Amino acid sequence: MISYSLGKEELENWIVSETEFQPDSLGKAEAIMHLGNGYLGLRSATEEPYMKETRNLFVAGTFNKAEENEVTELPNIADVTRLDIRVDGERFSLEIGKTKDYIRQLNLKYAELIRIFEWTSPKGKVLQFEFKRFVSLDNLHLIGMKMFVKSLSDPVQISFDSGIDAQMSNSGSQHFLEGERRIFDKKKILLVQTTNQSKIDVVINSSHKVLVNDQEITDYPAMNMSRRKVWLTYNINLQPNDKMELEKLTTVYTSRDKEFDNTEYNIQLLMDKSLEDLRNSSIKGYDSLFQSHKEAWNYSIWNAYKLEINSENPYDQLALRFSLYQLTIMAPAHDERMGVAAKALSGEGYKGHSFWDTEIFILPFFIFSNPAIAKSLLTYRYYGLEGAREKARENGYSGAMFPWEAAWPTDGEVTPKLGDIDIVTGKQTKIWSGVIEQHISADIAFAIYQYFNVTADQEFMDHYGYEIIFDTAIFWASRLEWNERKQEYHINNVIGPDEYKEHVNNNAFTNYMAFFNIKLAIRYYETLMKDNPSLIEKLTMKLDLKTAYKTWQTKAEKIYLPQPREQDLVIPQDDTYLKLKEIDLTKYKNQEKLRTIYLYYNPQQINTFQVTKQADTLLLFYLLRQTFLHEDIKLSNEVKEANFYYYEPKTLHDSSLSLATHSILANDIGDTDFAYSLFRKATEVDLGPLMNTSDDGIHAASIGGIWKAAVFGFAGIRLVDGKLTINPKLPKQWNHMKLTIHWQGQPIGIFLTDNTLSVKVEHKKKIEFEVYDQIYYCDDEINIEYEYGKR
Ligand code: BGC
Repeated sequence: MISYSLGKEELENWIVSETEFQPDSLGKAEAIMHLGNGYLGLRSATEEPYMKETRNLFVAGTFNKAEENEVTELPNIADVTRLDIRVDGERFSLEIGKTKDYIRQLNLKYAELIRIFEWTSPKGKVLQFEFKRFVSLDNLHLIGMKMFVKSLSDPVQISFDSGIDAQMSNSGSQHFLEGERRIFDKKKILLVQTTNQSKIDVVINSSHKVLVNDQEITDYPAMNMSRRKVWLTYNINLQPNDKMELEKLTTVYTSRDKEFDNTEYNIQLLMDKSLEDLRNSSIKGYDSLFQSHKEAWNYSIWNAYKLEINSENPYDQLALRFSLYQLTIMAPAHDERMGVAAKALSGEGYKGHSFWDTEIFILPFFIFSNPAIAKSLLTYRYYGLEGAREKARENGYSGAMFPWEAAWPTDGEVTPKLGDIDIVTGKQTKIWSGVIEQHISADIAFAIYQYFNVTADQEFMDHYGYEIIFDTAIFWASRLEWNERKQEYHINNVIGPDEYKEHVNNNAFTNYMAFFNIKLAIRYYETLMKDNPSLIEKLTMKLDLKTAYKTWQTKAEKIYLPQPREQDLVIPQDDTYLKLKEIDLTKYKNQEKLRTIYLYYNPQQINTFQVTKQADTLLLFYLLRQTFLHEDIKLSNEVKEANFYYYEPKTLHDSSLSLATHSILANDIGDTDFAYSLFRKATEVDLGPLMNTSDDGIHAASIGGIWKAAVFGFAGIRLVDGKLTINPKLPKQWNHMKLTIHWQGQPIGIFLTDNTLSVKVEHKKKIEFEVYDQIYYCDDEINIEYEYGKR
């Protein structure tokens, strides 16, 4: 059971609680309550082990390919959180004895995990347990844990094993070669492991401090070692009301860390650094380290984003905070060679790979709230250009064809070739996305456009942005296929965002986005020729821009852009979609589990129905409105509405990416109640009451979507053709909303109610923005009354 309202006073709407221990549904809390800082991701498995647990600790960017026939993935490094606890020699487990007042909580404000309960052993000894954990935002390499045990009834012996356990795998795949193991001063443990293929060294050190009634014990623990494992065993005798406390600190360093990824590197340097950090941290102690971590969250996150909503449903505020918490810990802000994983660092799902999820669903939050991180994530794509060029060459195209799934930037395409079971043949289904889901190249170009317009970061464009946009446009120009009969360019044999349609011709989303990508390249080329020809010259050394520009000009206008049908204004999702059979989707639409349609049909069969996995054509209305194309291609509100009501009923929302886009669009077309219910559903993808939603990890894009639905949707804060617009439409449940966004280099404070808007320009640099077609200028503070709901 997940509960949302247990936070009181200053912690009101900051606490996500699990109020009952369910050994068969461990994945939920493990994933949604996972801890991290963008460098480390620690799944919140309980200290004592259970059969159905998944223990994960990931370090961003440490990709490895365990076997030749597997794709590279983020390996699960050694576990440091497990404690094998015994009470009077008997194994401690919540599956035996009696548990009272159980609670596990993620405190979003302090990014801390807490678990408290009273436990009566099978022999009748009553004990109070309390566990605490954090992964520091102040020191990215540090994990802190505490355990308190109090004997409430009788004298009792508590024993526990605590160490570093590298007997881990990714669902059976072993990524590591064993390295050195050692114990220093009978308290500090070292374990070294090296990935078998990418040869990344991982050094882990843990320290232990045990106190009884606040006095550190002087007895030494027993020291143990076995294959891939090293640990200490403590035996502590407690009298009634005695309190035992364990403080365990761990540091993790890898040779992938920027400071070690150089020619001077040797493993000793890494080991020295890890141990030195552990020694310094142990001197400070858990409480002081936790305090610095708390302050970092307060200063860099909560005080920076200042996102507040006052809703009749307090859960909404909690959900928004949950989304900011997750967005913070999923982003490798420390290293621009790394991207965001589709399941963040919370589970093995999708192998730590990055998808278009980043650019279209996650990046907008960073662009508007923390542009430095947005820049880092886009720089990651720049570093991926070589792999993208190789993929284009391999497929017979020119330019940069970005991988559908990306890992280390130079890895290129890493999408697995085979997936889940095909219920008709009993074989694994073939995954086509790595070859024919190609829209990602244009999605990246779009994200750069959005970043540049919101931040005005010319330096990024000069160094990285233009090159990506030009090279992806070169790809598209080479990808287009001339249709002699129709005298137009087509893009055949693709998968659009709707992955329930494979091998389709002229997916509207792909065609429009390719068109946008090429038009953007033309536009930037022309501007640079005027304003910065030397940059064009410089880029010409890498790319044949002169020829490319001519090709773009001749081809762009002849790209086939599927138009709204006369009779109902519906834009065909692809060449065949509207002719396919319509089936009753009730059975699959409101299922507790996603993708239940696969239990009845295989991909070939699904390909023949008018059923859509997630927002596809509809996404265009939301994306292109932000661009300079929004007028040329006439995606009017009328067309938007017609398409929304045509496609939404056929959409199963079987990808978590779908709901937020639909919420934004429902709001645009004035269906605020539906928009609000879709927003709530989006928040429930991970945070909701269903216990098996997040077993493989949280849904990073959906979490980015929660922010987007609130800010782009309800607050109506959006980029429209280079301009900031604020067209709020708060749901009736919300009384006010407050947040800070970044616009062209300065923070802007925004406060809205259902008919007033205040804007505060923090650095007093004049900005221009539009509210319901009226233009405002402001270099300080302005209060505006607006007419609610006007389109
Ligand atoms: C979705 C993709 C998404 C991927 C990773 C798939 O189920 O259809 O659009 O990129 O998951 O989240």
